[in-house]
Amino acid sequence: MDDLIRRAAKDLAAAGNVAALTGAGISIESGIPPFRGKGGLWERFDPMEFAHIDALMRDPTKVWKVLIKEMKEILDRAEPNNGHKGLAKLEARDKLKTIITQNVDGLHQAAGNTDVIEYHGTFAWQRCMDCGKKYENREVDVSKIPPRCDCGGILRPDAVFFGEMIPAEAMWRSRQAATDCDLMLVVGTSAVVQPAAMIPVIAKENGAKIVEINPEKTPLTFEISDYLIMGEAGEVMNRILEAMEKI
Ligand code: APR
Repeated sequence: MDDLIRRAAKDLAAAGNVAALTGAGISIESGIPPFRGKGGLWERFDPMEFAHIDALMRDPTKVWKVLIKEMKEILDRAEPNNGHKGLAKLEARDKLKTIITQNVDGLHQAAGNTDVIEYHGTFAWQRCMDCGKKYENREVDVSKIPPRCDCGGILRPDAVFFGEMIPAEAMWRSRQAATDCDLMLVVGTSAVVQPAAMIPVIAKENGAKIVEINPEKTPLTFEISDYLIMGEAGEVMNRILEAMEKI
């Protein structure tokens, strides 16, 4: 892995416009379970039964009771880990501009990154299904399920459920960032959910170098990525930053 760490440090040092695409894997070290693989949420809950917009509209109490309450409690406790902090340090060194994240935990902003596109929305906010009023997740009282807005409407996370559109602004800003970058870090995503998994392909088609950080291979690894650093996000980011000091 050492030579790949050095290679990534050199590539980042030489890059003019770096973007990152992140997935649940970068937040595992903050105590947030991934969706797939070991301990994945979808191993315990059927996403179509609990994370699809039709399920939420059909039975908001059930979805709130099972999925949303569990996610809310985990997210309320989560703090950024070395993976998030590493990307924040890259921005501080003017070596990372935009993060496109599939995560809904708000940890990139908490770590200090200032240009974060939340491709699947966010759990950090709840919004009323009737009037659209937004509430900070931490201030929503879930002792009564489902929680309600002052207007009486039911609250839902401001996240994108299966069956919903990606927010239009997130969609086009991500496409722009992927087109403009000359290096894209792809960290902690299984790259199986569309349209997010297309983002590295757009970057590649526009001449960017694609550097994957993941303990496992993904569909991107052979077709799209220039190389895969097989490791955990926190440790790999720390080692890349160290190696950049020596350049
Ligand atoms: N560091 C980096 N990557 C890791 C780590 C780690 N410590 N541990 C696991 N991973 C990798 C796994 O190998 C896997 O490739 O993180 C990835 C997690 O994959 P998923 O759980 O599928 O998460 P993600 O790719 O973000 O899912 C995409 O699916 O259910 C929807 O909306 C949900 O945004 C989510 C989307």
